[in-house]
Amino acid sequence: MVLRTFDPGPGKSQELNGETDWNAFDSDAYVEHNYRHLRSDDEQIIRIVRDHFRDHFRLHPAAAPVPGIDVGSGANLYPALTLLPWCSEVTLFERARTNVRWLERQVPGYEANWDAFWGVLREVEPYAGIEDPRARLRLAARPKQGNLFDLPERRWGIGTMFFVAESMTTSHEEFRVGVRRFAECLRPGAPFAAAFMEGSTGYSVGGESFPACSVEEEQVWEGLAPYAESEMHITRIGIPGERPLRQGYEGMIVACGRRRSVSSR
Ligand SMILES: C[S@@+](CC[C@H](N)C(=O)[O-])C[C@H]1O[C@@H](n2cnc3c(N)ncnc32)[C@H](O)[C@@H]1O
Repeated sequence: MVLRTFDPGPGKSQELNGETDWNAFDSDAYVEHNYRHLRSDDEQIIRIVRDHFRDHFRLHPAAAPVPGIDVGSGANLYPALTLLPWCSEVTLFERARTNVRWLERQVPGYEANWDAFWGVLREVEPYAGIEDPRARLRLAARPKQGNLFDLPERRWGIGTMFFVAESMTTSHEEFRVGVRRFAECLRPGAPFAAAFMEGSTGYSVGGESFPACSVEEEQVWEGLAPYAESEMHITRIGIPGERPLRQGYEGMIVACGRRRSVSSR
């Protein structure tokens, strides 16, 4: 895919998704920094997403199970865990070979740090009714290496995409296309949750730098609204008092909605 380049802002150089060496992504260093312990901001996000999916399937009980997808899974299992009660299978779609290998290692029996994340999910039914989430994930999860710009349309019945569209390029145009590809891979009516770093200036993993583009609530809304039913909710999660995750961001944003039944395009 060829995309026009856009000015990334004063003093910043452009780095497009296809120019980044994603295979330099150090999965273990990423988990160590981000997910070794459950942070209060991730905990808030989990509750919001959990309740969104639960409320959706309360209204549409006959709709589950559906095939689910987590786009750009990286080395994070908690989006996939939010999908567990609703899915016959969960595609863990990821570009970096390193992260696909990490996912393949975790799926047969994930590490103990993820128990705290599951602990938040299991505060409510039907998550609480899943006795062995490791066995459920083992049965359902399918790591798949691929490029989100090539995702097929209308294939999945529920989807998540966490910290990907704004954390894979400095280009706002690529951000918008990434959000669109995520929305378009979902079937009409499918519930989704997407999370974003707010005001990100880029990040480093195990000493390697990766690109990001700075987005706020408005860009998230503009990116998703054309593809979502009008009741979409966007929540801004500020940096918690305990400590920021890193330098160079202003918080997190989570958007929960349903794929529009009739396309606006
Ligand atoms: C900041 S990490 C987020 C990982 C994880 N979703 C999380 O919540 O922590 C961004 C992820 O997007 C993946 N990625 C980057 N470009 C991609 C592309 N074109 N298609 C699929 N995944 C991509 C990266 O390999 C990386 O795993």
